[in-house]
Amino acid sequence: MVRYIITVLLVSLSIQLTSAAEDWGKTGHRATGEIAEQYLSKKAKRTINKLLNGESLALVSNYGDDIKSDPAYRKYGPWHYVNFAFDGSYEASEKSEKGDLYAAINTCVSVLKADKATKDEKAFYLKMLVHFMGDLHQPMHIGVADDKGGNDFQVRWFNDGTNLHTVWDSKMLDSYEMSYSELAANAAKLSKFQLQAIQEGTVKDWMNESRILCKEVYATTEIGDKLGYRYMYDYVHVVRGQLQKGGIRLAVLLNEIFG
Ligand code: ADE
Ligand code: ZN
Ligand code: ZN
Repeated sequence: MVRYIITVLLVSLSIQLTSAAEDWGKTGHRATGEIAEQYLSKKAKRTINKLLNGESLALVSNYGDDIKSDPAYRKYGPWHYVNFAFDGSYEASEKSEKGDLYAAINTCVSVLKADKATKDEKAFYLKMLVHFMGDLHQPMHIGVADDKGGNDFQVRWFNDGTNLHTVWDSKMLDSYEMSYSELAANAAKLSKFQLQAIQEGTVKDWMNESRILCKEVYATTEIGDKLGYRYMYDYVHVVRGQLQKGGIRLAVLLNEIFG
């Protein structure tokens, strides 16, 4: 009986551990933070350094996920994603009163620009902004409510059962086996023109770009698909491109806020 109880506890613990949602996963968020550092103005770098007491953007990039385990921060849960109808638009959709990823980014920017915000408040919203700019570039975070952004879309990753959301959050990056600093150091070399094209636009434009990618993912994946090497071949460069865009655009916002 005791052995049975221990087995049940261990199995349920391992399910909880493996199902904890981690957005881009630690590596993806860190890569986005590290890439952003490459594009910060001197002034932005100095202000950020003071706010974060010397910690890097890569280091603080998972704070938004770390606080999920503390009930005091529960209200920030819905700020990590935005769902709207597959053929609809954010504008036309009914907004959740609990907030969403797009509203969250705007809130972070407003607090960081506000003269009356304290250092602690600014540090909190800066860490959240670093995280949310990563989430904005994970296509399944600009999802549909029906399947919770692919969390209820079951697939296989090599021989393991998982879901489409997790494949995009972390399975592809984990299988790629590059550290966040390797991902940042080996990001695509961009021409001036390519860089400008990424830097242009608004947070809403960037969200809609991720939605287009999300639609492509649904168009090319079916429930129960066994995904693996071929999926990596098709999409890991998209993941890497999204991490790079997230970093470059995070720097755009930070340079504008602190510039
Ligand atoms: N929960 C509900 N929708 C979600 C989404 N799009 N991403 C992450 N978690 C979610
Ligand atoms: Zn996620
Ligand atoms: Zn998140």
